[in-house]
Amino acid sequence: MKNAKPDTILTHAGSDPRSNHGIVNPPVYHASTVLFPTVAAMNEAGHSFDGVRYGRIGTPTSQAFESAVAELEGGFKAVSAPSGLGAITTALLAFVSAGDHILVTDSIYGPNRLFCSDMLRRMGVEAEFYDPLIGAGIERLMRPNTRVVFLESPGSLTFEVQDVPAIAAVAKRAGAITMIDNTWATPLFFRPFDHGVDLSVHAATKYMVGHSDAMLGVITTGSEEIWKRLKANAVQLGTCAGPDDLYLGLRGLRTMGTRLRQHQETGLALASWLKDRPEVARILHPALPDDPGHALWRRDFTGASGLFAMELKPYSAQAVAAFLDGMELFGMGYSWGGYESLILPFHPEKLRTATRWKSDGPMIRLHAGLEDVGDLIADLERGLARLAAAS
Ligand SMILES: Cc1ncc(COP(=O)(O)O)c(C=O)c1O
Repeated sequence: MKNAKPDTILTHAGSDPRSNHGIVNPPVYHASTVLFPTVAAMNEAGHSFDGVRYGRIGTPTSQAFESAVAELEGGFKAVSAPSGLGAITTALLAFVSAGDHILVTDSIYGPNRLFCSDMLRRMGVEAEFYDPLIGAGIERLMRPNTRVVFLESPGSLTFEVQDVPAIAAVAKRAGAITMIDNTWATPLFFRPFDHGVDLSVHAATKYMVGHSDAMLGVITTGSEEIWKRLKANAVQLGTCAGPDDLYLGLRGLRTMGTRLRQHQETGLALASWLKDRPEVARILHPALPDDPGHALWRRDFTGASGLFAMELKPYSAQAVAAFLDGMELFGMGYSWGGYESLILPFHPEKLRTATRWKSDGPMIRLHAGLEDVGDLIADLERGLARLAAAS
């Protein structure tokens, strides 16, 4: 359907019931070998990344998921990967060579930082980390050999909102490729290609899958030229996702709009409630009007997901453990984006090299799940009482 709105795309993209006996959901193709009827057909398929010629290169299942994400994000085409980190490394490896310099935001997801500062460095690529709030000032860091500028907005621990269009414009003038980790916003709340970004990476593991039961990544490209290079390199690397995980990703998309609206509403309710608590020093949530990133968020985003953070007043590690160990609804785990609420202590100061992270109290990240918001607040209230009692 032409000009379909995001919820309509989410409901129908990548599905074609008429070619499948009218069955609403597409079948899951478990495939390695693909047979060709003739030598001519085999030769023809040998030159294309669009068709189906070998399981690793693409199946109707991977193509259905990829076309749905690309349509949703308004990109040219997508490439799926076995995890979000796999999508990040595939994207980076496709565009760098020995001797290149890349710029990576200091707020970047930790394993992405490690890949850039360890593996890429060993391959002769210099990764320089930059202040996420640098905006157009990134110009002074550009070098003749700067090939990639990597953004993540907001950062998934510290929630700084980047001036994406300003950074992308500088990179474009300098001939560098811009990549963004768009996992927090999803294509529903931030559209990277409208802001000049070349390539958008997602940990589909989070909101796309949405049920904490699969690892999946996807990269969308803004142009055919970039897609061709990315796909050719993904094929060289052997990047491909498992069929059942791809199916779970596609199925997750069907409800992602509805889920995200609830994650947003509950996240904002929790953030607003926590903000007024005496145990809390500050909330890091760009949709709150007094957040330092709020103006940029309002300008560029159409919503907020359910992930945010808070800085507590100075409490001991023992008091924080009393708070977190006793939570009944909030689970403690490294992921987010599923239907369930999560809570996690973290230490941003250990992850910075270009900037210094300043906080006087412990940092806690929360993911607002789909439970009743009153029940979640009651769980937090009991937790904060334990925190205060243990100090
Ligand atoms: C912002 C962000 N990007 C990428 C990833 C990596 O995704 P995956 O765990 O699927 O490799 C994560 C995982 O937590 C993440 O939070």
